[in-house]
Amino acid sequence: MTSASAPGKIILFGEHAVVYGRPALAVPVTQVHADVEISDRDTSGIWIDASDVNIHTDLNTLPSDHPIAAVIHNLFFLSRRSPFPNLEIKISSTIPVAAGLGSGTAVTVALTRALATHIDYSMTNEQINAFAYEIEKLHHGTPSGIDNTVVTYARPVYFVKGQPIETFQVAQPFTIVIADTGIRAPTKESVGDVRKLWEADQAKWDNVFDEVADISFAARHVIREGRIKMLGALMDENHMYLREMTVSSPELDNLVSAARKGGALGAKMSGGGRGGNMIALVEEEISSAVAEALISAGATRTIITQVS
Ligand code: MEV
Repeated sequence: MTSASAPGKIILFGEHAVVYGRPALAVPVTQVHADVEISDRDTSGIWIDASDVNIHTDLNTLPSDHPIAAVIHNLFFLSRRSPFPNLEIKISSTIPVAAGLGSGTAVTVALTRALATHIDYSMTNEQINAFAYEIEKLHHGTPSGIDNTVVTYARPVYFVKGQPIETFQVAQPFTIVIADTGIRAPTKESVGDVRKLWEADQAKWDNVFDEVADISFAARHVIREGRIKMLGALMDENHMYLREMTVSSPELDNLVSAARKGGALGAKMSGGGRGGNMIALVEEEISSAVAEALISAGATRTIITQVS
């Protein structure tokens, strides 16, 4: 049997603007993960069990552009393995779906890794990342590539589309509370809506994206210097621009203000938006209290994570 795992992720700064070439910061969230197990089987065909997305079927019955099928077909094509071996593939994940935590991306990366290892096809992280990016395009249309990058490397990344991977140094670890609105919102839609805004008034939105780029740039500096308290104000400011892009929602705004009232140093939505998760920067001692305040304000689930 071969197994592989990939973490969830959060965007700390710069979502959406990153699609337009501006920098963004993202970190892995190891408390949630996608796991894949592959074994040979005697019966012919490839059997897929992915209970979380209700798939219990033979590969042949999945549409060829389904992200799971696409990984398998493309990897066999790339590795020139023919005919397909007989396999049983088990996929499970603790990452909430369509919540901005990279659930689809983590399945893609874990499945690619497990499958490549199982068929003895050697792939570097760079190759897995490039492969996962092609699959991301099926999910999201015009992804920046930040999600597959942070999930593949499982390291904090300062990401600029088309530039070499840059991981960032964290001088002083800091604590983030992640809270879920419970509302599922596909990233593809919010990314598409921001594109419509940009197409209607490129000068205005390029300006907004530049402001967000300054925030991401400053955040990297502050994290490198260990001046964590200053990150809070940068999160608040980034959230304001995300609201302007129309990708926040009343539920996200409500959790952001509950976190601030509960003592967080700053808070913002994270990822595609319209639903999914928000993040709050907190002093470690009050992380549980802020998480409780978020549950009282309507969050369906919280995760406390340390960025180091
Ligand atoms: C989604 O996690 C981040 C977005 O910026 C989309 C992308 O970068 O592909 C909203």
